Amino acid sequence: MTTQDIARLPEHGIALPELERMLADAGRDDVDWRNGRVPMFIHFAGDDVLEVAKKAYLMYFSENGLGPRAFGSLAKFEREVVQMGLGLLHGDAQARGAMTTGGTESIFLAVKCARDRALQKRPGMGKPRIVMPHSAHPAFDKAAHFLGLEAVRTPLGEDLCADVAAMRAAITPDTAMLVGSAPSYPHGVVDPIPAIAALAREHGLWMHVDACVGGYFAPFARELGADIPDFDFKVEGVTSISADLHKYGYTAKGASTLFFADPESFALMGYYFDDWPRGQYFTHTLVGTRPGGAIAAAWAVMNYLGHEGYLRVAARVIATRRAMQAGLDPLGMHTFGRPELSIFAFGSPERDMAAVGKGMSARGWTVGYSNVPPGIHHMLNLTHEPVVGQYLADMKAVLADPSTKASAGSGRIDAVY
Ligand SMILES: Cc1ncc(COP(=O)(O)O)c(C=O)c1O
Repeated sequence: MTTQDIARLPEHGIALPELERMLADAGRDDVDWRNGRVPMFIHFAGDDVLEVAKKAYLMYFSENGLGPRAFGSLAKFEREVVQMGLGLLHGDAQARGAMTTGGTESIFLAVKCARDRALQKRPGMGKPRIVMPHSAHPAFDKAAHFLGLEAVRTPLGEDLCADVAAMRAAITPDTAMLVGSAPSYPHGVVDPIPAIAALAREHGLWMHVDACVGGYFAPFARELGADIPDFDFKVEGVTSISADLHKYGYTAKGASTLFFADPESFALMGYYFDDWPRGQYFTHTLVGTRPGGAIAAAWAVMNYLGHEGYLRVAARVIATRRAMQAGLDPLGMHTFGRPELSIFAFGSPERDMAAVGKGMSARGWTVGYSNVPPGIHHMLNLTHEPVVGQYLADMKAVLADPSTKASAGSGRIDAVY
């Protein structure tokens, strides 16, 4: 970088038309997610849904979720979003929740509450531990790192789901929390939540279900016949659930929900302070200022889609996954495990999957990789629906290239998220 490249605050402001040009220019080399060639980061449920989210966001663009006293609107939206989420996830009258700014914040808070519960119950304990399957999201390790816990990952079973016996074996007197995913991000499979919750109950541990991906998808997939175990508050022993609105809630980014089975567990994340000149300060969640737009957009999209709308989108996403799997299978590209929701990964030991990915990249597809097993990863949305045929045709062409055959040394992929 030369000195000329260093951005400086302009002496005089730039007019909006010029700024609009600059903004558009800056994104010229970004991937065009609308063309269905990006397998992650985006959860598109139609232009109409996007329009609802944007309108609601802009209407509450300046309002701040930190101030429910000033913005009764946002307090109402959040209350109703939480109630709708708890309705989907079988929370009873005791269940509580709050909106956060994303899956990572929800997970941080769940880890914090589990840690505090364990320290309350066992004052002399060592460094609290989280025991979780190898497929759990890195946000748990990040939270453990920031909050002074130790994260322990246990091997998966053959089905790529949590191996509950391995989790049992990893429990020590310092264990504070067990985790299961619904579904896991790497393979899209749902862990055996009832068995993990039973283990948590047996040892008096906090049990968190990471439904950041599935919280607003799995309930509808189940209605459509998806064969997945109970994963929510129906399961006795589940203490908390994270469910992201900005994923399959299809709302604006900066929105997740964190739910608790009971008010005592919920209370552990509240923070109160008043030893400063400005008086009482209280938040339920980690951040202070919260984007009013993200709260309003979540409320608006949930009410816009309704049960029927979510069901309809879920059916189309599942049909897209099935069409991709059905086309990939005859090409020798087999799905890992038995995913029933919106994520799947595939590969073959007979192929150098890094070379396959490179071939797909050369044909204009952004490729998400899986490390274990080596493969290609998709988190689907409606942008993918129209391009399944093209994807399969390109895959067939890539596999015709002999350089994609596995050779000594191929196998390991250093996947970047
Ligand atoms: C299973 C799972 N949990 C948690 C997260 C973290 O969510 P966020 O990126 O919103 O912080 C993700 C993100 O993809 C995820 O897939």
